[in-house]
Parts: sequence; C-alpha cells; structure tokens
Amino acid sequence: MDSTQPNNTSLNLINIVWLIAIVLLLVFGGLLIGTFTPTIFPAQASSESRQIDTLFRFLLSVGGMVFLLTQGVLFYSIFRFRVRRGDTSDGPNVHGNALLEFIWTLVPTILVTVIAIYSYQIWVTIQAPKENEQVVQVRGARYAWTFEYYDEANDISFNSPVLHVYSGRPVRMEMNTEDVIHSFWVPAMRIKQDLLPGRTTTVRFTPLEAGEYRVVCTELCGGGHGQMYASIIVHEDEAAYLDWYNEQLEVVLNPPEDPVEAGRALLANNVYPCSGCHILDDLGWQGVTGPTLNGIGERAATRVPGLTAEEYLHQSIRNSAAYLVPGYGNLMPIFQNEDESAPYYMEDESLNAIVQYLLTQTS
Ligand code: CUA
Repeated sequence: MDSTQPNNTSLNLINIVWLIAIVLLLVFGGLLIGTFTPTIFPAQASSESRQIDTLFRFLLSVGGMVFLLTQGVLFYSIFRFRVRRGDTSDGPNVHGNALLEFIWTLVPTILVTVIAIYSYQIWVTIQAPKENEQVVQVRGARYAWTFEYYDEANDISFNSPVLHVYSGRPVRMEMNTEDVIHSFWVPAMRIKQDLLPGRTTTVRFTPLEAGEYRVVCTELCGGGHGQMYASIIVHEDEAAYLDWYNEQLEVVLNPPEDPVEAGRALLANNVYPCSGCHILDDLGWQGVTGPTLNGIGERAATRVPGLTAEEYLHQSIRNSAAYLVPGYGNLMPIFQNEDESAPYYMEDESLNAIVQYLLTQTS
C-alpha cells in the first residue's frame, strides 16, 4: 500500500474537486455532442421540425453524458486496475454497494420519466388539430404519390403529383393507400406516418420555410419502392399558393377538349399512379419497374399480332397480364371500369384520352 497517504480531510477535498471536475466534463461533453451533431440534419422547414430537434438535442445530450461516463469508467478501469506483471492472485471479492446501486437505479428512473413526459407533450402538440387547417388527401399506390385538393366553392377535386402548401398555414394530410402499406416521410418537416390498407391515417405539420423538399416512401412496398418519392413545394405566402391553385382549378373546371391534351393532363397530374413505374421523357417520369413509354406510339402496333396500336394500349391498361413486355414481370394493376369505389378505377373516357395521348409518343 501507499505509505505517503495524505490525511482524511485533504483526501476528501481532493475527491470532491475531482468529482466536480468529472461531472462538469460529462455535462459539457454531453452538451457538445447534443449541440453539434444535429448540424448534419436536413433543413428545419416546419414548426414540428424545431420541436422534434429540440427533443432530439436533449436526448442526444443525455445520451452523450451517459456515453462519456460509461466509456470514461471503462478506460479508467482498464488502465488503473489492470493486472500487474507477476500478479497471479484473484481480484478483491466485492459484495455490492447499496448506495451505488441506489444511485444507478434512481438516476435512470428520473431520466426515463423526464424523457417520457417531455416527448409525450411534443407528440400531443404535433397531433393536436390546429386552427385554419388546410386539408390535403394523399393517395399512395405502388409507386407514386398523388395529392388531392378539394375545392369547396366548386365542389370539385383535382390531383397533383407535387404537394403544394404555403408558409405559416397548418396542413392536415388525410392518407389512404390503394394497395400495400406505404409510409409518408418528409425529412425536412420531421414527420412520418404509415398509410394502412382499409383505413385513413392523418399527419399534421406547419411549413415555415419556403422551398422545395422531398417526400419519401419509407416502408418497403415492392420493386419500385426506391423510386417512390415526390416533391413538396412550400410557397412564400397565400398569394403565391393561390396562383398555382387557381391555375390547377381552371384546368379541371374547363378540361381540355382535345383527348390528347386531356390524356396528358390525367397522366401529368398522377390521377393514376403510372409515373412511379414507367419512363416517359415528355412528363419527366423515371420509374424502372415497368417498360419505358418513350416511343410507345410507334411500338404499340407491333406488339401483339392482330391488335392495332389502340387495341393493344387498351388491353395493356385494362388487362396488363394479357401480354407482358419481355423482361418485365406481371406487376401492373388492372385498371377496371366497373366499381368506382374500388382501387384502380378508370372510366372509359379517361382510358381513351390516355391512349390517344400515348399514341402521340413517338421517338
Ligand atoms: Cu411505397 Cu415504399
């Protein structure tokens, strides 16, 4: 044993100084981790993102302190208590320490309780209905997102492949899926919610920063899952949003008479989820699970002997399994014209317009 051991009072003083220094180091280190790690996060574009990030910073700081404490004790023990050369004896037999056990039970209990109350409050705030909410219907289908806007004045709805909202107005998304589970995730807004077959799920957010952000599907939903994303455009103010809105409304109120134009509008607005699976340069589609539609107007007549280009395109949409383009599986939904309330309903008029438009797609 050490023969130059100082007397008890000065030992206690040194211990207390050490203890304070270690606690300060842990707190400071934890705050440092909690403060600087979130700088790699996406933009904070909604009020929810600020609340979520504050909670995350808090969790990260607490986690950082625990990490530094456990790793600090680990490394201290490795160096301080490692076996000396020639020492073959057993270590001391420790029978437990009531005070230490009390502390390491009490501290995590307090921490977990504080975290539970704090995060529950944030969750409740985010879920709470807001005043003057803008409601947007969301439809997920393999592998595209469609956003539906309802115009009360005209009692009419229109679709958009891009979600348009504006800064400062709370949004409520009412979400349905036509097939499997998808998950609506907007990293910049820090919101994420599953779409479940057979029920409507809701998610709320209040955009605060104008700009364009990404909507991602974050539930594995099939071969095109990686392509299932959309954009969200947050307009500066209501006036800028209404410019877009009225333009869209105008098209629905006065639909183009030319079937080619009408068909193009149906596809461009994601009324049917075709964009998620096909390539079509004219509309900027980049899906890969289905065959390309570039130049389909030329190929359609040559696909199936006995079918004209028009008949072939009709068949491909109403009963895609009847002929599969070599290299592609039977993945396309059947677009039916019998039950309007069932998924993948497509009326004859829409089908004809889409076929007329596709026939114009030559290379
Ligand atoms: Cu939809 Cu993944």
